[in-house]
Amino acid sequence: MALDLTIEKLVYGGEGLSRVDGQVVFTPFVLPGELVHVASPSSKKHAQRANLIRVTQPSDDRITPRCPIFGECGGCHYQHADYPAQLRLKRGILAETLRRGAKIEFDEARIAVISGDAWGYRNRTQFHIENGKVGYRQMRSQRLIPAAECPISSPKINEALRKLNRMAKDRRWPKFVTSLEVFTDEVQVQWNVLEAGQPVAKHFFDWLAAEVPGTVPGALDYEVNGDVFSIAGNSFFQVNRSLVGCLADLAIGEESGATAWDLYAGAGLFSVPLARKFGQVTAVESGRAADDLQRNTRRAGVDVESIRQNSEAFLIEANAAPNFVLADPPRAGLGSPAVTRLLELAPKKIVIVACDPATLARDLAGLKERYEIERLAMVDLFPQTFHIETIIGLVRRD
Ligand SMILES: C[S@@+](CC[C@H](N)C(=O)[O-])C[C@H]1O[C@@H](n2cnc3c(N)ncnc32)[C@H](O)[C@@H]1O
Repeated sequence: MALDLTIEKLVYGGEGLSRVDGQVVFTPFVLPGELVHVASPSSKKHAQRANLIRVTQPSDDRITPRCPIFGECGGCHYQHADYPAQLRLKRGILAETLRRGAKIEFDEARIAVISGDAWGYRNRTQFHIENGKVGYRQMRSQRLIPAAECPISSPKINEALRKLNRMAKDRRWPKFVTSLEVFTDEVQVQWNVLEAGQPVAKHFFDWLAAEVPGTVPGALDYEVNGDVFSIAGNSFFQVNRSLVGCLADLAIGEESGATAWDLYAGAGLFSVPLARKFGQVTAVESGRAADDLQRNTRRAGVDVESIRQNSEAFLIEANAAPNFVLADPPRAGLGSPAVTRLLELAPKKIVIVACDPATLARDLAGLKERYEIERLAMVDLFPQTFHIETIIGLVRRD
């Protein structure tokens, strides 16, 4: 059974929303206003998911996807949309997510949109390897989709992918290595084994190093805005190589003063420039990047107190607020204990860098009690995908 739908709008997650007999249906790879023919969803749940059969009436924003495995590999969601349309749609989704999740009306036209390269932007990519094939897992499945190239990954990652495709067919390939990550600044290459059934011998890494020039044995030194950040294997680092410096500049903006906190500090991407604008900076990181953070602030010659701790615990123990708080939490957002404590400490200004607008909206629903939005920017760190990065500047109302 199939049915025809009109796509009302795109929602966060990349799918198009339609309504049929009072039920909501989500369809991937469509655009607002399109008339589409889909396979009837089998589920009778309130929100159903339909598979696209064909687009009967395409949007003017529709283009031919660049990648031959688009729609299969699970990595990209918007290659069928012209890039300016992607930016426009994401800005609308951000405004709507704040409206629904935080009950905040923020004029969409006032959301600054910052973008860089739409292709070849990823400096870090994960591959799966199975039966001599290298690729990605299919969306919502474990099936491997072989990949010969990846147009959103950097040229060096594509070089590594070509080598991996050859190596995986070689009988020397250790079959228990089933997932690998490549991280690069286009000169150095770091390999992180993500899934392996047993410890990986050194000669495997020697083989990778012989095949892919630039392979480093440990931390990779990544230069951003003239500072060098040493990033150990599996430490967090921003993925978009064309916007990483811009993200740091935008997060700090025009702020300066006596005291600042950098919460969820990672390897110190924001802590180092913050320390040049504030008298006293405290950076808090609980993950493996905490060692990088110490090393990087020392190397930059800036005075930062780095604390290896959960930001929530740090906030609970703190007894006075700084002038400025910068927080860049993972997808889960700040969460209610951190929001409650920030409301009690009440720093004059807070900037949140958020990679999930839904959890950001939840946090803002609490913070809006004492704060108002001073600036809001959508930084398109993940072109061709539904992911939205937001920088929001809040100022205490008093
Ligand atoms: C989105 S990254 C941001 C890192 C850094 N601001 C940057 O731009 O490179 C979030 C960081 O928070 C760390 N993290 C996760 N949960 C945390 C927590 N509860 N407290 C402190 N750090 C945390 C992660 O290890 C990661 O390095």
